[in-house]
Amino acid sequence: MNDPRIIVALDFSDPDVALNFAAQLDSALCRVKVGKELFTLVGPQLVEKLMKLGFDIFLDLKFHDIPNTVAAACHAASSLGVWMVNVHALGGSKMLTAARQALEGKKTRLIAVTLLTSLAQDDLTELGFIDTAESMAQRLALLTQRCGLDGVVCSALEAARLRKVTGADFLLVTPGIRSVDDSKDDQARIATPAMAIHNGANYLVIGRPITRSSDPLKALQRFNDEIMLAV
Ligand code: C5P
Repeated sequence: MNDPRIIVALDFSDPDVALNFAAQLDSALCRVKVGKELFTLVGPQLVEKLMKLGFDIFLDLKFHDIPNTVAAACHAASSLGVWMVNVHALGGSKMLTAARQALEGKKTRLIAVTLLTSLAQDDLTELGFIDTAESMAQRLALLTQRCGLDGVVCSALEAARLRKVTGADFLLVTPGIRSVDDSKDDQARIATPAMAIHNGANYLVIGRPITRSSDPLKALQRFNDEIMLAV
């Protein structure tokens, strides 16, 4: 598979467990996501080991700081050879533009988180935002696109609306994916792989339905089959 659509979230607290788990997967069928916990614990070493196993890495560190600092962090991530890195769109257009410029000519893709899905309307009001979460997420996605980034993280349910306003060439990366029979875990708004693809998602972030499966490779293959049927 040239461009696997699944990004497996390696949400483990122990790097050895994460590495052993990844070794059970097939790098031709998925990419992997390394987040703040594992990266804070062991950093680049784990990224290097995962790359040696053949995986493309989405380094999910959600940078949010002044433009110069975020640009330098994105450049550093790119030097590690990661496939994708992300920032918070709420850092503003100067920060987004600086991050994009830092990756000029590099292969690393740069996407933004619009609004954290953990923020409810009450939280936004408390922070002084007067818009609805939905319209803020759309505004931030369009800002991200205007600043020249490659895409955004969004829920598969809002992907259809974002796809309409951003056009075809903007990456939509969607977590909260579950097959019909999977447990929802703590996700409130979930979509099946087929729904996500129909709504215009490019990449699907999947964690527990694969990481907690008794047969992770089989679970991964099953998700890929569902995607293949939907594209
Ligand atoms: O286990 P599960 O499939 O729910 O994992 C989803 C992954 O996507 C986790 O790493 C989670 O932090 C991440 N994520 C999310 N919702 C967002 C952004 C990221 O679930 N809005």
